[in-house]
This record gives sequence, structure tokens and C-alpha cells, in this order.
Amino acid sequence: MSALNELIAQIPDDGLRQRIEAEVRRTLKHKKFGLVFEEHLPETAYLPDLGREVPFGEPIYPYLELQDTIPAHDIAAPAKGPRENWHTLIEADNYHALQLLQYLYAGQVDCIYIDPPYNTGARDWKYNNDYVDGADQYRHSKWLSFMKRRLLLAKKLLNPACSVLIVTIDEKEYLHLGCLLEELFPDARRQMVTSVISAKGVVRTGQFSRVEEYLFIIEFGSSNLIPVEYNMLDTEIKKESNRHIEWLGFRRRAPQAIRHSRPNQFYPIFVSKVDGKIHSIGEVLQYNVDRHTVTIPDGCVALWPLSSKGDERLWSLQQKQAIVNWGKGYIKVNWDKRKEEGTVYYLPEGTIKDIESGIATKLGYDEDGSIQAIYYSQGTTPPKRVWNMPTHNAETYGTNILNSIIGKRFDFPKSLYAVRDTLKFFVADKKNALIVDFFAGSGTTLHAVNLLNAEDGGHRRCIMVTNNEVSDAEAKALTKQGHKQGDAEWERLGIARYVTWPRTVCSILGRDINGQLLKGNYLGTERAMADGFDARCAFFRLGFLDKTRVALGRQFRELLPLLWMKAGCHGAPPVLQGDGVPPMLVLPENAFAVLVDRRAYARFVQEVEDAPGINTVFFVTDSETMYREMAARLSPRTTFQLYKDYLDNFRINRPQ
Ligand SMILES: C[S@@+](CC[C@H](N)C(=O)[O-])C[C@H]1O[C@@H](n2cnc3c(N)ncnc32)[C@H](O)[C@@H]1O
Repeated sequence: MSALNELIAQIPDDGLRQRIEAEVRRTLKHKKFGLVFEEHLPETAYLPDLGREVPFGEPIYPYLELQDTIPAHDIAAPAKGPRENWHTLIEADNYHALQLLQYLYAGQVDCIYIDPPYNTGARDWKYNNDYVDGADQYRHSKWLSFMKRRLLLAKKLLNPACSVLIVTIDEKEYLHLGCLLEELFPDARRQMVTSVISAKGVVRTGQFSRVEEYLFIIEFGSSNLIPVEYNMLDTEIKKESNRHIEWLGFRRRAPQAIRHSRPNQFYPIFVSKVDGKIHSIGEVLQYNVDRHTVTIPDGCVALWPLSSKGDERLWSLQQKQAIVNWGKGYIKVNWDKRKEEGTVYYLPEGTIKDIESGIATKLGYDEDGSIQAIYYSQGTTPPKRVWNMPTHNAETYGTNILNSIIGKRFDFPKSLYAVRDTLKFFVADKKNALIVDFFAGSGTTLHAVNLLNAEDGGHRRCIMVTNNEVSDAEAKALTKQGHKQGDAEWERLGIARYVTWPRTVCSILGRDINGQLLKGNYLGTERAMADGFDARCAFFRLGFLDKTRVALGRQFRELLPLLWMKAGCHGAPPVLQGDGVPPMLVLPENAFAVLVDRRAYARFVQEVEDAPGINTVFFVTDSETMYREMAARLSPRTTFQLYKDYLDNFRINRPQ
């Protein structure tokens, strides 16, 4: 129900209410683009931690509860671990997670890739904890409200100087989504790609079969797509081939290039009759000297710049330059041994520059001393807006790959290679990119980021957010068995825990859910799936604390993972024991430090300076002046102020 309808329902006067209802119905019918798009009543979320529905807008206090890590570390013990960057999976409603991410990474994200529910009408997503089906007349409107709230938050995460937002969608919502994106990102560059993801097609009687979906690509600042070796459309992949350097005829062809017009460009080139090689380059002939009077070295013929009619013309270079270039192999003769005739060729200045600067690669020299060089293909070609890549087939390279890893647990994952290729267009040159997917589903995006990193030695980091919902069918079955949302059995089967995390662990380890080595190679690479990836990931659940009931000590402990994330996710996430708050924490393996009690300041500064690689420092104080004074000593490290009531730092769920 829209907010308007709810307000109308409150009008006590029946007549007036009915007239207003009729008027509203009439207006909605005429709405632009047929879009029934209204702001709906604030979404609510059931937060099991608080044991109730919480409307959007009511302040809530989130924290990250560590569930698991890969490689495994004893999360009951203080973390010690290597300092590599870690990926993260967060189990949460993305509306809350995105607000938390504002605190952590506003303006720092390089790429957001999302594959939201397509709103098929087949109860494939929830609004206010209720599946939305085809009979809901506000279906599109709800979906747009849902997306708008999240995209507004996503916008604040993206780096305005250079970043990209990629949203996949199908025909049910692509028009609505297009309008929304235009409204939300008027200044960004927008384009849409059509991608064949199932050539076989989904057959629908009396209709064209569905074979494609769409990608909206919204670019900010200096973001630019980086071409790859495929144009994305031709099924038969044509790679641009290598190109040999081009030799040009040495005799000038222009009609005005006649012997007397330039004094230094008429001279003989002597060629040996024995081997057809250039023997020497003769002197320039003065304009009144007959060329037939020139002495020809023994066993040679003289080649002159003559037209086909025998008119005296010019060579392309002055004699001195010609000698230099010949010495370097930049002039050659094509010799016809039988006729004892030859044609002289040379390399133009541009080609010589390319060889000398390495743009064209020198291969060596021919027998006659002339240079051999080649322009190696850059391997790139401008990509097209219609993609028809067999490797993007969602069944073969999405469902089948996923099933081979964790079994049949999730419908409609993306092709691993489709996500990898899409990301590559925008982050191929950003080896440390931060990539976010807040509709992560089965976790294809992190898998694709790991594959891309493995291919090009990158250290890109991925943050995935996904909720822990079960499918409509599973929910019915679980309810029948007497379970309800929040029960251990119900939560165990949720997507984050039953699909996203196991897939992430298995793909990194190179083993399936039963511990067997994965079979086969990643397509187009020598990389065995069984090799897994040199990658690390922490799995958190976004929990909520009741501010009025939680002791400060516990707040500090629960919020530590947030500080770890804000400091860049270095090393295994730290875990503190007990409820007490230490006066300070210096964590070189995590590259950050926290001063809790300012009486420990002198010792803290000393320890931070002595510890290697601390680049982020948090100061707990309610006084801004105090914070600035303390932070000044530790510059140029990045510093942040934290309020003593830790939860106040992270209050979220404000109305937008
Ligand atoms: C279409 S799927 C994404 C599939 C994914 N690209 C893949 O390859 O597996 C969308 C996912 O978003 C999740 N989701 C839907 N609404 C959400 C919300 N409000 N917060 C977090 N996740 C949500 C759903 O559970 C679903 O798994």
C-alpha cells in the first residue's frame, strides 16, 4: 500500500474518502511512463537481535559479528596474522549495511556491481519482509522505492573522481530502472549493454524467447572503459593480428619531384649483381652532369630515381641521410636477379621512430642487412554494446560451476566469466580497486575478483553484502516443519550462510563442499580450479545493539571489526576477549591503533611510532580540540575521532 492510500484510509468521511480515492486512481493511470511510482511507507526490517520490526528512520546501532574466516583462525583468540588485504562478506539487509559502509568508505569505492532481484512477479524478492508477487499492483513502484533508497546510498560510496556503477537487469524492470538511474545520476555518463546469457533461450508460447539481459553502466569522473581482445559480439573471436612494418618506394612520386627541383636527392645507388645487395651509395650529381658518365663499381648496376617513362626524378632522402639510414638497415632493394633490375625501398621517419622507441618491435636483420620489425597487436578492439559471449552463459558458467562447488543450493547465479569480463573493463588498470556488491547472492562477484587478481597479479578487494533469506519454497517447507525465521535451522539454510560463504571458502580452497578437489581449469587459462586462490575473507553478520542495555566495554569489543574495516582490512580481523576496555590497542598486523584512555597518550605515541606500518589511528574522546591536538603528533597517519559512547559513532537508519 502506498503512503497516500494509507492516509486516505484515515479520512473518516466516507463520501470524501471515496471521491479522493477515485481521483487518485484516475491520476495514477495518467502517470508519466505508466510508472506507478510513489514513495512507500518507510520499509521496516525485522531485527532478531532486537526482537522486533524496526521501521527505516528509527536510530539503530549496528556492529559486525565475526562468523568465520578463510583461512581459518581461532576467533576466540586474539588475532595474529599476515597483513594481506582481506575481502569481506556481510550478512545483512543491504540498506543497513550500505549505511554502515558510508561511515567506512564514503567516496572510496572504485566499482559497484549489483545484480538485484529482477522483480519477475514470481516472489523473487521481499519488501517489508513480504514476498512481492505479480498480483501486487504496486509491484513496480515498490521495487523502484527499494532500489532508489539503496542507489542513493551507493552513490555516496562511489569515488566521484573515477568510479563505475554496474547494474544488471532484465526486461521486466529495465525501462523503470533506466528512468531511475537517469534521475539519480544526471551528471554521470550512462550506457546500456545487451548481453546474451542463454542462446538456447527461455521459451514462452507466442512470444520471442528470452535470451538476453541488460547491464546499465554509470561512469563517474575520469572512469573509462579499457578495451580487451574481444569485441564482445562476434562469437568467433577475431583477434587483431600483428602487423609488419611497411616499406615505401624510395623514388618520390609527386609530379613536381623532378631532378632539378632538389639539389641533393639525385644520386646513384649501386647494387651488386651477384647478391642483389646495396654495394654503396654514390655522390650527388650536379644538375648539368649526365648520369651516364658516372663510374659504376665492378660487378654492380646503378639504380637511379627514374619514372616508368625514364624521366629523371628524386629519391625521398638527401644523399647524406640515405647513407646513414642504409647503414641502419632502413633502406633496401628488391632485386630481380634474372632481369638484373631492382626497386629501392625505405622506411619513413614515423616507422623509424616507432622502431627506435620500441613501439614496433625489432626482430633482427634480413640477409641484405635491412631491418625486420613488427607491430605486435595490442590485442584490443573496441567492444560493442551487444555482447554474445558463449562464456557468459548463465547455466553453463553460472549454475553448473556453482553446483559443482556447493551442490544445488541457488538458482540463477551469473556466469563467473560474465562478471569477471564486466569488471575487467573498468578495473583492469586498478590493481588495488575496492569493489562492492550489495546483492551478492551466491557470491559470483568475489569469485570473479579473485580470478581477475590471479590473472593479473592484482590485490583488488571485494566487499559483498547479502541477506540470509531462504527462498519462498524453502520458507513454506520450513514453516510446515514448524520452524520460523530466526530459528537455527531456518537461518542455517539462508543464502549468506548456506550459499555465499561456502562458495567463497570452497573457491578459495579449490575444494568442493565435500572436500574433494575441484575439477577442470578456469576457462581460457592454465589455472586449475583445484589451485584455489591466494585470498583471504572474513564473514560477518551485521548485528544490532540495544544502546540502553549494552555496557561500554562490550560496545568497544563489538565495534572493533568496524575499525578494522575502516583501517583497510589488513591482517586477520582482531578479536578482543572480555568486557573490559584496554587503555590502548596497537595492532601492527592490522595496521591500526586505538587510544582509549588519554592518560596512556605518551606511551601510545611511543608504541605507534615503534610499531611497523601503523597507518590508521583512532582516538577515543568527546572533545574535538583534544582529538586535534593528539592527532597532530601522529601525522601523516590517517586519524579518526571516536566518541566515548562508541555506539554514537555508528548510529544508522536515519531517514534519507
Ligand atoms: C539476483 S540475486 C544475485 C545473484 C548473484 N549475482 C550471483 O551471481 O549469485 C540477488 C540477491 O540479493 C539478495 N537480496 C535481495 N534483497 C536484499 C536486501 N534487501 N539486502 C541484502 N540482500 C538482498 C537476495 O537474497 C539474492 O540472493
